[in-house]
Amino acid sequence: MKKIALVPAAGSGSRMASATPKQYLDLLGQPLIAHTLRALLGAAQIDQVVVVVSPEDEWWGSYDWAALLGSLERLQVLCVGGASRAESVMNGLAAIDAADESWVLVHDAARPCLTSAQVDGMITELEYDAVGGILAVPVADTLKVAAPEQRIARTTPRDGLWQAQTPQMFRRGELLAALQDALPEHVADITDEASALERLGKSPKLIMGSPWNLKVTYPQDLTLAGLLLRVER
Ligand code: C5P
Repeated sequence: MKKIALVPAAGSGSRMASATPKQYLDLLGQPLIAHTLRALLGAAQIDQVVVVVSPEDEWWGSYDWAALLGSLERLQVLCVGGASRAESVMNGLAAIDAADESWVLVHDAARPCLTSAQVDGMITELEYDAVGGILAVPVADTLKVAAPEQRIARTTPRDGLWQAQTPQMFRRGELLAALQDALPEHVADITDEASALERLGKSPKLIMGSPWNLKVTYPQDLTLAGLLLRVER
């Protein structure tokens, strides 16, 4: 069965305090998303990589992707990004030319430190799973619930808590139907793909990820990502 990587890259990155969306910020001399795409294209089991950009995107067209990534044979760009991440993913799923049973690995453009080995590893673990699953890491820090004035209300047990990452791997038809069922009404609850499936009573698998698979959200994350990309992961 076909495996497609779907990369939502239609965000504006407002928390980065930059006019350039974070997926295009410079990371070791290249746009951040180039590192992300290289990891996905480098995975032996990925047949195609589909990037979802905003219809108003002014940046994608200004790069020489062939020079950055080598062959563009397995890369496709769709200008169907929406107002939320969930909507961008839903529009991308609707637009790709693939059977309902195809596996789709949704991966944030803003996670450039993913490795091809992690992608291939998760496909091997999930290919025959009934639902699919996500990369995630167990929560390491003690968790506090905040009260007003930034005081601590209480400590919440971290046992059994995991931080969701991407890729998140699901069957194209099931994920599309789950997102269509949830949007637009429940958009605030759908912060990843798994949450859309959970709404319908499914229980996706947690696959051990790596703390290095960070999402670039704030300016200091970019510094950290640059350091991580320089070391053997
Ligand atoms: O903003 P956040 O960090 O949650 O974004 C995660 C990913 O979703 C980023 O790669 C971003 O470009 C993408 N996104 C999108 N469409 C939106 C908002 C975010 O494709 N409307």
